[in-house]
Amino acid sequence: MKTYYLDQPGSLDNLAMRETPTPTPGAREVLMRVHATSLNYRDLGLALGTYKSPSMPLPLVPMSDGAGEIVAVGNGVTRVKVGDRVAGIFHQGWIGGPRRPEHPVGDLGGGIHGMLSEYVVLSEDGVVVIPEQLSFEEAATLPCAAVTAWNTLQVQRPLQAGETVLVQGSGGVSLFALQFAKLAGARVIATSSSDERLERMRALGADELVNYTTHPAWEDEVRALTGRRGVDLIVEVVGSMTQSLKCIRTGGRIGMVGQRGGQGVPASFGMIVGRHITVYGIGVGSRDDFEAMNRAIAMNNLKPVVDRVFAFEEAREAYRHLKDRAHFGKIVIAGPRGK
Ligand SMILES: NC(=O)c1ccc[n+]([C@@H]2O[C@H](COP(=O)([O-])OP(=O)(O)OC[C@H]3O[C@@H](n4cnc5c(N)ncnc54)[C@H](OP(=O)(O)O)[C@@H]3O)[C@@H](O)[C@H]2O)c1
Repeated sequence: MKTYYLDQPGSLDNLAMRETPTPTPGAREVLMRVHATSLNYRDLGLALGTYKSPSMPLPLVPMSDGAGEIVAVGNGVTRVKVGDRVAGIFHQGWIGGPRRPEHPVGDLGGGIHGMLSEYVVLSEDGVVVIPEQLSFEEAATLPCAAVTAWNTLQVQRPLQAGETVLVQGSGGVSLFALQFAKLAGARVIATSSSDERLERMRALGADELVNYTTHPAWEDEVRALTGRRGVDLIVEVVGSMTQSLKCIRTGGRIGMVGQRGGQGVPASFGMIVGRHITVYGIGVGSRDDFEAMNRAIAMNNLKPVVDRVFAFEEAREAYRHLKDRAHFGKIVIAGPRGK
């Protein structure tokens, strides 16, 4: 079978495709033929060496996200069967409930081998059945960015209809957060560096748009759009805590997802305490979260935004496309048997 390996972090040139034997599933394991994978910012960081995973095996089969079909099962498998259309879960050891110290991290494409391969073997507990109406390319976008957005909006303190959510930029997590917030009946304020991207976010349901390049003090614009009350929830992917604290309402909540802006997080203790802000860390989500999200996607016929599908042989080009910030929505890599 064809498999990509990252031999060493530091350069995309260190990603190489090789022929390896197709593995056999053991007891309670499944063999999945991977039809599509999708890239996250973490995959790029791990390849370039700017993001570290302490227990990363080298060479590493990269990428956390993939969807495909079960082609063989080992002894004792009961959760899924041959022919099922599935995706791998990001944290292979986190099945449900709040995250606890005893859960193994088991993060695909980081601490353990990932999905950029023709076939993978996973525990039967490490997969979920994907919504019927989604293609493999669409379903491959779900395990990291979508579950992260779902968890930020729905799991910690579920979003209420009529609340206002701020989504920052038009990256993978933010677009899913926008789509899920609209499903929940919320009002969405979206920011981006580009007016053209903002219009595309409007087409996905964003109610208010702020260009953070032409409005560097975007928090003032956001606050004004709420009648100076502030937004109820911020999906913080930028790491702009100082600005976010100026446009969150008293008693609001901030889901800490990423630091895409590379600004660090100089949080103001006084503002968090004095204004009763709830700040919570997000680490993707559990299998239960993934399955709850899939039910919502199926019920509402929600379609993930796919930017572009690259051929398996073009995996490095797909990474470069992410590096160049040329995408709107998710970047997908087809399995080796074609797009
Ligand atoms: N904690 C978790 O579980 C978790 C899970 C997934 C991702 N993350 C993290 O979340 C972040 C976003 O991930 P992603 O996959 O959505 O990334 P992505 O698809 O690469 O999104 C990048 C987008 O972020 C926006 N952006 C960049 N710098 C910005 C800034 N200074 N201000 C506002 N927006 C800015 C840009 O939007 P425009 O082009 O529209 O300006 C850019 O297109 C990353 O830091 C990632 O590591 C964390």
